[in-house]
Amino acid sequence: MLKTYFSSQYRQSCNLIQELEHLKCLENIYEYFSQYSFTSFFVSTLGISENEIFGDLRRFGQIESKFQDLLNGLILNPFVSPKIWCKWFPAGKGVDKFINDGIPYVAEIIKSKKKQHKDILSYVENSDEVCLIDLLLTVGNQISNERQIFNELILFATAASENTGFVLASCFILLAIHPDIQEKVYKEILDTIGDSYEDISNLKYTEAVLWETLRIFPPTPFIGRKCHVDIDLGDKVLPAGASCLISTYHIQRDPTNWVEPLKFDPARFLPENQFKIKPYSFLGFSAGSRDCIGKAHAMMQMKTTVANVVRNFKITTNYKSIEELQLESVITMRVVNKSNCYFEPRK
Ligand code: HEM
Repeated sequence: MLKTYFSSQYRQSCNLIQELEHLKCLENIYEYFSQYSFTSFFVSTLGISENEIFGDLRRFGQIESKFQDLLNGLILNPFVSPKIWCKWFPAGKGVDKFINDGIPYVAEIIKSKKKQHKDILSYVENSDEVCLIDLLLTVGNQISNERQIFNELILFATAASENTGFVLASCFILLAIHPDIQEKVYKEILDTIGDSYEDISNLKYTEAVLWETLRIFPPTPFIGRKCHVDIDLGDKVLPAGASCLISTYHIQRDPTNWVEPLKFDPARFLPENQFKIKPYSFLGFSAGSRDCIGKAHAMMQMKTTVANVVRNFKITTNYKSIEELQLESVITMRVVNKSNCYFEPRK
């Protein structure tokens, strides 16, 4: 299934190149790539043509990017039930409107899918171009109505787009701050790249750049767990039943885990060096049975995008160092101080 996404992701990255040629400078690179990731995710998972409903999709993406801010309103009000919150609180009303706007939009796509493929089961069995919504439609008995499909899509889209967008934006900033590393990526792309999925898998250095970005700037700065048994930490015990937050951000910047943690050094993640990485000192996609189910999809999308952008542009920025980026943690990570990022076409 991942392979069928590739052509769609590649087309999305080509649209991006055209847009960057026109824009040249991104003032808010984080917002821009969050939108880009959202659109790419929807186009590839809904299996729709980007030209078809691009305007609606953009509008929908803008609402989604406010979704997290709105949800924080609920988290900060633990004494208010979600139902009351959605009905009476301005942030809650925003979430409610988002859902009410989204359902008919998805319903429309489902209607046209059903019209297109009368026998969805045999289509899924026989086609090479199956997308997520086709699969959701085949489990019609369990996921029967538009609202449930919409809920599934929003879970995936929110998990996918904010994270992927944040890593892409951070990666371009890091490459802009480190022109030597950017040139290494460019050289690898020239030496390796074609248009096929296999070539993307061979971009080992580019992949290491993305892992290293994810280490320094984890978009999910903490993960939550509930202890089922007492956990002995030596001088302390976490009692069964306790809720705990594990800070990926601190673990991945801890000097006892990583030498010079604020040095952007993709070589740490090259295949020949990976054995040196301490177990659980990298949790970018989490670990264990509840780790990120979209990591292969995310890596493929990010590698395709980075390869196409670096192949076409030299990237520069006003940021001078990693320390300059001031971070704040909402549900996912955000950069507070925005700076310009420039995309100058390579001759
Ligand atoms: C750079 C991109 C991404 C990062 C850094 C990321 C990271 C994470 C992390 C840290 C978790 C938490 C797991 C836990 O609690 O232990 C998670 C969960 C999840 N991710 Fe991702 N993710 C990314 C992209 C994606 C994409 C593209 C998809 C969908 C195609 C996706 C779907 C999900 C889902 C559905 C969950 C919830 C899994 C569960 O609760 O069992 N993610 N992700």
